[in-house]
Amino acid sequence: MSDEKIILTGVRPTGPLHIGHYCGALVNNVAIQNAGGYAHMYAMIADAQGLTDNFDDPEKVRRNVMEVALDMLAAGYDPTKTTMFIQSAVPELTELTFYYMNLVTVARLQRNPTVKGEIAQKEKFANGLPVGFLTYPISQASDITAFRANIVPAGDDQAPMIEQTNEIVHKFNSIYGEVLKPVKIVMPESSLAARLPGTDGNAKMSKSLGNCIYLKDSADEIAARVKSMFTDPKHLRVEDPGNTRDNPVFIYLSVFAKPEHFAAFLPEYANYEELAAHYERGGLGDVKVKKFLNSVLQETLKPIREKREMLARDTASVMEILRNGTERARAVAAETLADVKRAMRLNYFD
Ligand code: TRP
Repeated sequence: MSDEKIILTGVRPTGPLHIGHYCGALVNNVAIQNAGGYAHMYAMIADAQGLTDNFDDPEKVRRNVMEVALDMLAAGYDPTKTTMFIQSAVPELTELTFYYMNLVTVARLQRNPTVKGEIAQKEKFANGLPVGFLTYPISQASDITAFRANIVPAGDDQAPMIEQTNEIVHKFNSIYGEVLKPVKIVMPESSLAARLPGTDGNAKMSKSLGNCIYLKDSADEIAARVKSMFTDPKHLRVEDPGNTRDNPVFIYLSVFAKPEHFAAFLPEYANYEELAAHYERGGLGDVKVKKFLNSVLQETLKPIREKREMLARDTASVMEILRNGTERARAVAAETLADVKRAMRLNYFD
């Protein structure tokens, strides 16, 4: 077994991507892509997984495949370096899933903390849990092993999926012979960037809460969102000492504001630490800080939005990128599936 790096990332196309995705995943993945040193890099749009909790809204998933592809390309994914593909168009993945299902118990799936949390939250599952949703970690093991990926860059919520994938790998190899490779998760270094709170202070940015800033948002939409952001509710007068820790305006600044931004828009402060110290001491008003955050976000998101608008004028070319990537991905997955079936004694016509 060679130790060449094969990297796979995945994203569910259930909504356009927001700045939480951007600093938690896209920036990292593009840096990995551009650093090189790997044998292959794949970026999968996980529409089949997206359907496991959106099967009643197929148009939503279909529409967001294009939205997410535009977001990825605008953020710097380069299809000459990264194979971008659509999960459902690689049917080998579904076939692998069916074989892996034999290697996983229902109890094990029910213990998966990420799945468990999602089930508890979803009202639509209150009257019964679809088998497809419960088993999506198995399908994720197929996504990863089909491409012989040994590195999956993802947030900590994906760690249980990687753990389950490795259990499947070990069980498969111990029963049928050494075919599958174990995989490692690589998490973002900064835990703040890994999970950006919503503009309302909620722990998570989510479409249903309406607390997101999207990569496709116009300059006016960004400005309006920043203006109405939650801050420290106890910071009533400018003189009052403020809390920066649970304050999304400061959390965003700590992630996005670079020294160049201070030099250009708020030269009284050299960096984030100086600004935060003043707020905590008292004497710094929310309006001023929000104005600065708006400038930082406008500067950061403008080039992405412009590139996205350009790409969106020719969605046929974007579809062509996905079609080419999917063809290449399919060829690799077909090889793995053939290896798996041979090991499982299912290769009757070889
Ligand atoms: N579960 C991931 C998410 O919710 C998406 C995903 C599907 C994925 N298959 C994958 C991520 C394989 C990494 C590897 O965002």
